[in-house]
Amino acid sequence: MDPSAALLAAQERFTTRNPRSKEQHLAATKSLPGGNTRTLLHTSPFPLTIASGDGAHLTDLDNHTYLDLTGELSAGLYGHNHPLIRQTLLSTFDNVGLTLGGNTIQEAKYASLLCERFKLDRVRMTNSGTEANLHALAGARRFTGKKFVVVFEGGYHGAVLSFPTQRPKQPNTVDKEDFVVFNNYNNAKEAKRQILQLKGQIAAVLVEAMQGAGGCIPATREFLHAVQEAAREAGALFILDEVMTSRLAPHGLGHEMGLKPDMLTMGKYLGGGLAFGAFGGREDVMAVYDPRVEGSLAHSGTFNNNSLVMHLGYAALKDIFTPKVSVEFNARADLWRERLQHVAKGTRLTFTGRGSLMGLHFTEDGINAADVLSVTDLQGRQRADLRDLFWFEMLEEGYWITRRGFVALILQTTDEELEGFVDAVKRFLDRHEGIMKM
Ligand SMILES: Cc1ncc(COP(=O)(O)O)c(C=O)c1O
Repeated sequence: MDPSAALLAAQERFTTRNPRSKEQHLAATKSLPGGNTRTLLHTSPFPLTIASGDGAHLTDLDNHTYLDLTGELSAGLYGHNHPLIRQTLLSTFDNVGLTLGGNTIQEAKYASLLCERFKLDRVRMTNSGTEANLHALAGARRFTGKKFVVVFEGGYHGAVLSFPTQRPKQPNTVDKEDFVVFNNYNNAKEAKRQILQLKGQIAAVLVEAMQGAGGCIPATREFLHAVQEAAREAGALFILDEVMTSRLAPHGLGHEMGLKPDMLTMGKYLGGGLAFGAFGGREDVMAVYDPRVEGSLAHSGTFNNNSLVMHLGYAALKDIFTPKVSVEFNARADLWRERLQHVAKGTRLTFTGRGSLMGLHFTEDGINAADVLSVTDLQGRQRADLRDLFWFEMLEEGYWITRRGFVALILQTTDEELEGFVDAVKRFLDRHEGIMKM
C-alpha cells in the first residue's frame, strides 16, 4: 500500500474507533480555542480525550487502554498514582493545609535537597520550567549588566522561549530581539568562535545538555565544555537547562558530563506530579534575588512555595527517585533503545535519545542516530506521513506516544511492557516493509 492510502485508512479507523473523543473535542471547542489549552496536545483530525491513568497506563473516553509512553513529557516519571505520592498528598492536606501565605520549613527542606542533589549553592522555586528560565535569565542580566542571550536552534526553554528551526523567531518569544540564535548545536568549534565574537555583550548562554523538544538530540561532552568555557570567556553566565535532563543521571546530566554551570534550571518530575520549576546555582549569582539587599530583583509567585508541591516533590525525589534508582532506570532504558535501534536498522525509522527520554524520527534516508547531531541534520529529510501513520497504528496497538515522536518512560513500566513495544514496532515495520525499508 502506498503511504498516503495507508495513512488515510489509519485515520479513518481512528475516527471510527473514537466517537466519544470526537464528541468531547467538539464540545470543548465551545469554550477553549480549538478545544485546547496545551498546544502540543492538539492532533488532527481530533485529539483523544484521556479519562484516567493508573500506574503507567491510561484509558481514553472510548475505553481503550494504553501503555503510557508519553509520561507527561518527562514530568510523569512517578506514574499516575504512586502510593507514596498519594499518602504524602493526603497527609499534607490533612496536617499542613494547601497554601499558607508564609514561609514554611518544608520549602527550606526541599531547597536543601535540591541543592545537595544537583550541586547548587542556592535555589528558588517557580511554577514551571518556563518561569524558571525567565527568572534565571533576568538574574543573569542583572548579574552581568548585559542583555543578550545566546541560545541554539532546536532549543526549547519554555512556552515563550522556543527556538525551533523555522525562521523568523517564534512570534510569541518574549524579548525576541535579545536572543541570538546559533545554528551550530554540537559544533564545538563554531559555537565557541561565535560566542567569543559577542564578548562583553551577552548575559548568558542558555543550552540543554540534550535537546528534548528538539527531538532528543544529546549534546557531546566536547560541545558542552566548549560552550561553558566560551561563555565564561565572553563574560556571560553559562546556564544549563535541565528541566528535562535532570532525570537522566543521579545529579543531573550536566554533572554527569563534568560541567559546572553558573545556573541550572529544573522542573517537570521534580514537582512529584504537580506544577513546578526551579532555578539555582552560584551563591553570588543567586544573591541578586536576596530580598535583604536593597534593590535586589523581585521574584514573587503566589504558588512558589505551595504546600502540596513542596511536600510531594521532596518525598518523591528523596524516597522514590534516589540516585540508585536514577542509574538503574536509565540504564534499563538505554538497553531498550538499543533493542529498538536494532529492530529498526535499515529502515526509515531512527531512535535518538539518552536514558529514559527518546526521540523517534522518520526520514527519507533513514539517518543513523549517531549522525543526528542537531535539528539541521533532520531538516528536509523528515517524513511526516510515516510519523503520523506510526502514531495512528501505535494507538491501535495500545501505546500512547506523542505524535511528534517523543517518549518519556514512567518508572513503573515493566520489562515485558517495554519488550511488547519492541514487538509492536517490529510488526509495524513488517506490515509496511515496502514503505519503511531502505
Ligand atoms: C528543556 C525545557 N525547558 C523548559 C521547559 C518548560 O517547562 P514547563 O513546560 O514546565 O514550562 C521544557 C518543557 O518541555 C523543557 O523541555
